[in-house]
Amino acid sequence: MPRRRLSAALLGLALLTGSTALAITESMTAPAHALDDGLARTPPMGFNDWNSFGCNVDEKLITDTADYFVSSGLKDAGYTYVNIDDCWAAHDRDPQTGRLVPNPQTFPHGIKWVADYVHAKGLKLGIYTSAGTQTCAKTMPGALDHEEVDAQTFADWGVDYLKYDNCNNQDRPALERYTKMRDALKKTGRPIVFSICEWGQNKPWEWGKDVGHLWRTTGDISDSWPSLLSIFKQNVPLAPYAGPGHWNDPDMLEVGNGGMTAREYRSHFSLWSIMAAPLLIGTDLRKATPETLSILTNKDVIAVDQDPLGTQGTVLASDNGHWVLAKPLKNGDVAVTLFNETDTTATFGTTASALGLPKRPAYVLRDLWTHKDAETAGTVSGVVPAHGTVMYRVRRDSRAWAFQPPAAAFGLDLPSAVTGISGTITPAGRAFTADVTTTNLGRAPMLNARPSLGLPTGWKAEPVGRTGAAILRTGATLKSRWRVTPPASEPPGARSLTARLSYGLPGTRLSLAEDLVVPKPVPGGTTDLGADDWATAHNGYGPVEHNMSNGGAKPGDGKPLTINGTVYAKGLGTHAPAEIVYYLNGRCTSLTADVGVDDERDPRPVAGQSTVTFEIWADGTKVADSGLRTWQDGAFHLSSGLTGASYLRIVTTIGGDTNSYDRGDWAIPVLTCGS
Ligand code: GLA
Repeated sequence: MPRRRLSAALLGLALLTGSTALAITESMTAPAHALDDGLARTPPMGFNDWNSFGCNVDEKLITDTADYFVSSGLKDAGYTYVNIDDCWAAHDRDPQTGRLVPNPQTFPHGIKWVADYVHAKGLKLGIYTSAGTQTCAKTMPGALDHEEVDAQTFADWGVDYLKYDNCNNQDRPALERYTKMRDALKKTGRPIVFSICEWGQNKPWEWGKDVGHLWRTTGDISDSWPSLLSIFKQNVPLAPYAGPGHWNDPDMLEVGNGGMTAREYRSHFSLWSIMAAPLLIGTDLRKATPETLSILTNKDVIAVDQDPLGTQGTVLASDNGHWVLAKPLKNGDVAVTLFNETDTTATFGTTASALGLPKRPAYVLRDLWTHKDAETAGTVSGVVPAHGTVMYRVRRDSRAWAFQPPAAAFGLDLPSAVTGISGTITPAGRAFTADVTTTNLGRAPMLNARPSLGLPTGWKAEPVGRTGAAILRTGATLKSRWRVTPPASEPPGARSLTARLSYGLPGTRLSLAEDLVVPKPVPGGTTDLGADDWATAHNGYGPVEHNMSNGGAKPGDGKPLTINGTVYAKGLGTHAPAEIVYYLNGRCTSLTADVGVDDERDPRPVAGQSTVTFEIWADGTKVADSGLRTWQDGAFHLSSGLTGASYLRIVTTIGGDTNSYDRGDWAIPVLTCGS
């Protein structure tokens, strides 16, 4: 794999100088009005209600969240700010004082009472308004031309953080509007973190450092993989602009909201941390699963985000969706994130020398998701599953490495049943191969390497050739293969397969799991692509809907399927990029459907919005393609033969631009199969 060298000068400088030298550089270049108030020296951490509650915010949610910060360990993990977003105030200002009025229904005790409650827990309170005439939800006034009274009101209430949005701004210059609020906040004398939410429209990274403590670099995040990817790619090149007291803000976290897999949420948290992004939890903590909490409280990853050197990680290499990011840390360690954007497992990485580390016989490599230390002779690589992330902290230490076991790049690779993003579908009774790779990254030899498989009950695995090795030298790879067979009577559903590795004396143990799906064969006769019949479904925004348009992030929130004014009772509502796989088992002959962009879209789409294509695939072959369909087009009749195919895959693509408002309908689908 070609690897680009990180600019040695840049990384070396960051490694050698530390924060003192950095502070000197900052003060030398700071203009007269710079916001140099000692706040947000590390990226702010906390909670904001918007991503999971929208306008449904009230004082109980905020006080419950504060309680939960304390009881769950989130406060101990560093989360401090409990932030209220849009919709907290009454529609109009107090006619006498001109001040904002907390909504009497949702905040009956007022904001000061909430701030006192939050402060009593040792936490801080954040609030929201817009640098416009109204906020984005238009339920309350904005602060444009009311900056001083609003800043003073917030200060009087004991607010510690202000998110200042950009809606209804009357086309007045951003710099002027945000600077006015900066000065108003300063005038109150209360330390208030100032979060510029200008969506990156006027390159706030170029001026934000003198105005606020953080600035949004992008439009709003949504709880979807395409959104995560697009925001990551917009934010990552802005590394030079971030530092203590002034951060790029790629928007709040979606971890736990249900639109992505746990693996994708771990990637989200890893990427935000290596980018020194603010970590603002955006999920309903009262319903958070142990898995969500374990992601949000990963102290090893949080320490990378919060490292006092305050450098945003940079891209060391990005080769066909295999990203290597590095972030120098205050104590001389380097954090590394290996992120696999693609849909197949891949082995990639970097080296200690490319990370700018001095030459040593070996280095201590801490895996920040398994929390295990090991030693590497210099290779910093991993077997990274599709959409997954391996995150390390690399430490140069002349002696400590010798007390660690050799590090393993260890992974499980399962064949994808069909080309695409669907992961592994394993029909009942059908054998498949499971490949386990073990590479010794260590300086010391790896002794007695024994990989094994953990299977669902009743499944069988037969080794194909030798699976273990008595000794694996530095850099050597052991490839182990099993033929795995689920029982013929296995019921449809989700399963998982675990790969385990033990090696050395007294014994190091690693394990990792991959998800499998045992598909349900589609029914015989003529059917309509029923929601219960698919094997896997991936959608660009929220779930695929049955007999309604895609709607938003929640299940069942669509509208009647409508293509250019024609309403359809039956069909699938997707949002690009979408892929739905059905298991035909060679029994079907054809599929027809009327496809098109749903009328549920922005009323006035701009270039790049609401354009998709529709494709039908029989196993690895594309058998029908609608060509580009836009919001102006009527329905298009797609039809294809499927004779002999094991799998049907229906795909809605983004049409070559962004996936903004790309709701694609598969209306009146007719799948014809033998009995
Ligand atoms: C904008 C912001 C969001 C959120 C909403 C509230 O879209 O970018 O983060 O604050 O407004 O209406």
